[in-house]
Amino acid sequence: MKICYTVQEVRDTVKEWKRQGLTVGFVPTMGYLHEGHRSLMEAARRDNDKVVASIFVNPMQFGPGEDLESYPRDLEKDAALCEGVGVDLIFHPEPEEMYKEGFCTYVDMNGLTTELCGKTRPIHFRGVQTVVLKLFNIVTPDRAYFGQKDAQQLAVIKRMVTDLNVGTEIIGCPIIREEDGLAKSSRNTYLSKEERQAALILSKSLKLGKEAIEAGERDSKKIIEIISKNIETEPLAKIDYVDVVDFATITPVDIIKGETLVAMAVYIGKTRLIDNFIVQI
Ligand code: PAJ
Repeated sequence: MKICYTVQEVRDTVKEWKRQGLTVGFVPTMGYLHEGHRSLMEAARRDNDKVVASIFVNPMQFGPGEDLESYPRDLEKDAALCEGVGVDLIFHPEPEEMYKEGFCTYVDMNGLTTELCGKTRPIHFRGVQTVVLKLFNIVTPDRAYFGQKDAQQLAVIKRMVTDLNVGTEIIGCPIIREEDGLAKSSRNTYLSKEERQAALILSKSLKLGKEAIEAGERDSKKIIEIISKNIETEPLAKIDYVDVVDFATITPVDIIKGETLVAMAVYIGKTRLIDNFIVQI
């Protein structure tokens, strides 16, 4: 496995692979890798001749007061995980390599980014879209893998690729959870022992919402109420949002129909956690 720090090294390596007619799968990450990331890499490993993973804590997608500085990092451990899955190349650039002096071009979107996480993180998706398109231009992958854990991000990237005619197929992968139901996240390391226990309220409340839908409830307001009420029973939890939206367009729906995303962001102490499920009615 090769670790590349510059755009040029990645370009040269991928160019040689393409000359040999090999396909390339790509998994963008911010590192501090866990089973969730690993599942994306395994999927990429299955579908492609070569696998590239990027590890880059992208400053552009963090707002003021967010956790850019404290975001956990451990390249050595990450490299071992990648090697174990059979990743061929890790791209690990410094911010200066990605954002040269004078940088002023962004990918922005009118729809999809205003609801859910976009409400409290207004510049987040612009940063995600911009870095992902840059990474796609550098790696030129045949396929790229994104987790449903960040469902809005997955929808946004799918839309961007369609709108801008990017020649990469986007593959969505299921949420990987801890045994007790907590969705795996690099940010779970911020939780104290007590908070870690309290964090179970996310997946437990979602389960109640899912069961209500399975029992025939179609009124979004009712589902939001069932979920919110249950979250409020946990004293350490503070709701950022609980919403029901159309998965493709990320617009709120009154009646659940078609592919529908039920998503939440909840503060457990100071840590903001997200979780969701998607139903097809
Ligand atoms: P990061 O949070 O490191 O996540 C990288 C990828 O792993 C994303 O596609 C995310 O959805 C997926 N992932 C994280 N936890 C998961 C879980 N429990 N189950 C399944 N997949 C999971 O998302 C980002 O980085 C960044 O925004 C990025 C796309 C790299 C752009 O900077």
